[in-house]
Amino acid sequence: MISQTLKKIGLIAIMASALLRNNTAFSQQELMVDMSETIAPIQPTMYGIFFEDINFAADGGLYAEMIKNRSFEFTISMMGWSQPNSDRHSYNNESGFAMPVKYFEGEGNLNFIRVQVKNAEGYELHNEGFRGMGIKEGDTYRFTFNAKQMEGTVSEVNAFLLDEDGNTIAEVSVPVSGSEWKNYKVEMVPNKTVMKGSLKLTFEGTGELGLDMVSLFPTDTWNGRENGLRKDLVQLLYDLDPGFLRFPGGCIVEGRTLARRYQWKKTVGPVEERPSLVNRWNTEFDHRLTPDYYQSFGLGFFEYFQLSEDLGAEPLPILSCGIACQFNTGELVPMDELEPYVQDALDLIEFANGSTDTPWGKVRADMGHPEPFNMKYIGVGNEQWGPEYIERYKVFNEAISSKYPNIIIVSGSGPFPDGDYFEYGMKELKEIGAEIIDEHYYRSPEWFKENATRYDSYDRNGPKIFAGEYAAQSVAIASPDNKNNWDTALAEAAFMTGLERNAEIVQLTSYAPLMAHAEGWQWTPDMIWFNNLESYGTPNYQVQKLYSTNKGTDLIAVTQDGKNLVGQDGLYASATLDSEAGEVVVKVVNTSSDVQEISLNFKGKKLKGKGKVLVLKEENLSQENSFESQDEISPITEEIKVRGSSAMYEVAPYSLNVIRIPIH
Ligand code: AHR
Repeated sequence: MISQTLKKIGLIAIMASALLRNNTAFSQQELMVDMSETIAPIQPTMYGIFFEDINFAADGGLYAEMIKNRSFEFTISMMGWSQPNSDRHSYNNESGFAMPVKYFEGEGNLNFIRVQVKNAEGYELHNEGFRGMGIKEGDTYRFTFNAKQMEGTVSEVNAFLLDEDGNTIAEVSVPVSGSEWKNYKVEMVPNKTVMKGSLKLTFEGTGELGLDMVSLFPTDTWNGRENGLRKDLVQLLYDLDPGFLRFPGGCIVEGRTLARRYQWKKTVGPVEERPSLVNRWNTEFDHRLTPDYYQSFGLGFFEYFQLSEDLGAEPLPILSCGIACQFNTGELVPMDELEPYVQDALDLIEFANGSTDTPWGKVRADMGHPEPFNMKYIGVGNEQWGPEYIERYKVFNEAISSKYPNIIIVSGSGPFPDGDYFEYGMKELKEIGAEIIDEHYYRSPEWFKENATRYDSYDRNGPKIFAGEYAAQSVAIASPDNKNNWDTALAEAAFMTGLERNAEIVQLTSYAPLMAHAEGWQWTPDMIWFNNLESYGTPNYQVQKLYSTNKGTDLIAVTQDGKNLVGQDGLYASATLDSEAGEVVVKVVNTSSDVQEISLNFKGKKLKGKGKVLVLKEENLSQENSFESQDEISPITEEIKVRGSSAMYEVAPYSLNVIRIPIH
C-alpha cells in the first residue's frame, strides 16, 4: 500500500517536472522554417548605429581629449580650470593669475589665456577633466599646448598628472621660448591608475605667458590617431558590426535655435580653428543640468566619416533642414533664405565624394583622405513635423536629386510613431515619393511587443523605412529613472523579429541614444555606459549585437500553422539564410515565463547534424549589466541537434535564441 502510494507520488512528480521545469510551465510548439524560397535580401545596412553627442558621448566620451575647455572657448572662459592659490577677487594676489584674452571677434579659436606668474613657487593652474580624468598606469599620454612669451622670463611649463588626493603620478617640464606662438608636445607615463585624476600646471620664472589649446590625449587611441577616439568605446561599436553610422544626431542637428544648429562646415579643417558651441543638451533637462557641456568639434564630420570607414559602416549624415528643434523654439528659416542650408547639403556630398580638384573634395584631401568616402545616404531634418518640414524637404529633395541622382535621401516622420504629425508626414512624404523615411519610437516594453506586427501591413511599393531611433522606456520617455534592464531589451528583441520579418521595406534600424557617461548623462536608457576608465554594453547592446552579427543575407519564412509567430504564447520569431556562412539562422524570442519546447521543421534544404544556439536569457526582468558585473546578461552558446529535417529545442523563459545550423 505504502509502496503504491509512493509510486503514485513519483509518477505525479515526473509529470509535474515535465510540465514545470525550473518552476515554470512547459509547452510545445511546432515551427516551420521554409528555406525553399527567399522573401527579400537582408540589406547590409539593416542594423546600424545612431550616434549623437548627448550624455557626454563625444566630448568627455568617444573623443579621447581629456582636458575640458582646452581652448578657453566656453561662455565662462575659465570653466573647467581652477587656480587654487590665486584669489580671483584680488587684483594684487601674490602667486599669479590667468585671464582670458580675445584674439579677435568672430568665429574660430577666439580666446587664449594670459598667465601672469608672480611667484613661480606658488602659482598653479588646474584642469578637472570631464568629471575627472581616467588615467592608466604605464600608458603614455601626449600633452600638447600652444604658448608664447608675452613679458618677463616664464621659461618652463611643468605639467603634473594628479591622483584623486592631489599626489603626482606623472610629471614633465617643457622649456618655452619666443614671443611667437609655438606648439609644444611631450609625453607622460603615469605610475598609477586613477578614475578621477586631474592636470596641474606650474611655471618657472615670472612674467606673462600666452597659453592656448592645452590638450591631453592617450596615445593608445583607436588606430593610434593623434586627434583620436577612445579605443574601448570604438571597440564596442566595432563589435556590433554595424551596417551604417548615423551622425551627428538627433536633436543636436536642429539646435535649440537655428544659430545653434549643427553646421558641418565648422567641424572640419584644423582642429584648433573649429569654433566651439554650447551643447544643446547642456540645460535641456532641469533634472540633469550639465552647464559644462560644450562641443569642441574635435570629433567633427571628417572624423565621423573616418569612423564609418573604420567600422565598415555606411556613413549617414543628417543635416538641418532650416527648422530649429520644434520641442524648443521651432525657429524657421524663411523659404527664400533656405539656399545656404541646401548648399550645405550639396557641399557635404562634394566633401564626402568629390574629386580632390573640387573645393570641398580638396578640404577632405588636405585632411588626409584624398580617396572619396563613397557616401550613399544623406538625411534632411531630424524630428521635424508639419507643412513647414514638407515644404523645406521638397526644396532639398529637388536640389540633391537633380545634382546627385544616386544619393539616397532620408526624410523624417517626426518624433512619434503615430498620431497627427506622423500621419501627415507619412502621407505627404509618400506623395513626394520619398525613398526612405525615418521613424522614431521611445515607448514602453509592452508597446514594443505589441508592435512586432507594425510593418506587416506597410505598402511593399511605398517608401523604405529607417527605424532610426528606438528604445523601450522602462518608466516613461526620457525619465531619469529609466533602466537598461532585461525587460526592455527582451521587448526590443521581440520587436526586432518584426523589423527583420519585414526586411523588404525596413532597411536600416538603430537603437538610440548610443552612449552615456555614468556621471555626465542627460538621457536614459542608453545602449553603452562608460566612465573615465571603463565601458560596458547593456542587455540592449547584447540584443543589438546578436541581431547585427547574425543578420544573414536573405529573409525566409518561419511560421506556426501558416502564421507568423508574433506573440502567440509569448513567442516571436524571424529567420534568414546566411549565404556567406552557408547556414540557416532562426531567431526565437520567448517573452513568457514558460519553458517552451519548439520543434523546428525545415523545408527546402538539407541541414547538417548539429548547429549552435546563441542564447541571452535572464529570469529576473529587472536585471541590468553594470560596471561591476558587465557580462551579467551576455550570450552563452548551446548545441542543437538536427534529426533529418527537424530539430527540437527548449526555449528558456525570457530569452532570445539565435539558432544557426549549417546547410549541406
Ligand atoms: O535620442 C535622444 C533624442 O531623442 C534625439 O536627439 C531626438 O531625435 C529624439 O527626440
